[in-house]
Amino acid sequence: MKRAAALAIFLFFSFGAAAQQLPNRAGSFRFGVIGDSGTGGTRQYTIGALLGEYQKSLGFQTVLMLGDNIYGRHRPKDFRKKFELPYQALLDAGVKFHAALGNHDSASQTFYKPFNMEGRRYYTFSPREGIRFFALDSTFMDKPQLEWIEKELAGSGSGWKIVYFHHPIYSSGARHGSDLPLRAVLEPLFVKYGVSLVLAGHDHFYERIKPQQGIYYFVIGGSAKLRARNVRRTPLTAKAFDLDNSFAVMEIDRDTLHFQAIGRKGATVDFGSFERVSASVGSRPARPGQKKSDTASELRIAPSSAAP
Ligand SMILES: [Fe+2]
Repeated sequence: MKRAAALAIFLFFSFGAAAQQLPNRAGSFRFGVIGDSGTGGTRQYTIGALLGEYQKSLGFQTVLMLGDNIYGRHRPKDFRKKFELPYQALLDAGVKFHAALGNHDSASQTFYKPFNMEGRRYYTFSPREGIRFFALDSTFMDKPQLEWIEKELAGSGSGWKIVYFHHPIYSSGARHGSDLPLRAVLEPLFVKYGVSLVLAGHDHFYERIKPQQGIYYFVIGGSAKLRARNVRRTPLTAKAFDLDNSFAVMEIDRDTLHFQAIGRKGATVDFGSFERVSASVGSRPARPGQKKSDTASELRIAPSSAAP
């Protein structure tokens, strides 16, 4: 008994936030999220080290980058200082980063191999059956991109549709706040095609928005820069943390997504879970050859906790 208590204390002080790890269930899909990270400064390195600790304990192999991945110049030595070195432990562990472009990012990043963009400003990938990510370029939301995202969302048979991009369409930031023109063109598609989760950065803090038409929105834009006390808590705000830098880890366990936001000193500043939106609305019926289990999952109705 004494040994167990000593171990618990050791773990708590070793990892700081050990008490609030995600469920970390066998067979679930876990990933990390950083936004506005590419400064090359001390705060980015501190967050990078923490993210590395979480990667070790949760074993995730995917990290989403929400834009402003490289501030300033884009020379090879900038990619090294502002990306490769701060996340070296993760890169060494084989973690794949998937970047979205922010307003400070050069389009040349699309050809930088470790960002896994393969020359594309917007793209989609599915790390596992039933889960699909869509990365957008919100700085240049042109007609071809809108047509592309609608086609991809409509055609996706995935139960979990997660969209991420740089400019938040819901944010309580005094500096930027909600991008309303972007909301006008994107939100109807998210609702129509059963998107469950939308991630953005740009405002340099953490905010979880109350579900809007059943969709969960997060701002995770403080992974290196910080705009302290910038959240004007509005009726949109479910939880905000703007006193220090932060990042998030997430876990999808069948129809449930667990989230955990962690501050620069290692404390968990937000955590919780929600059920995915039913993907039956607007999605195509099962294609020939599609597994029956996938179809069943598509038609499951989300519980009321995910309602607006
Ligand atoms: Fe930005």
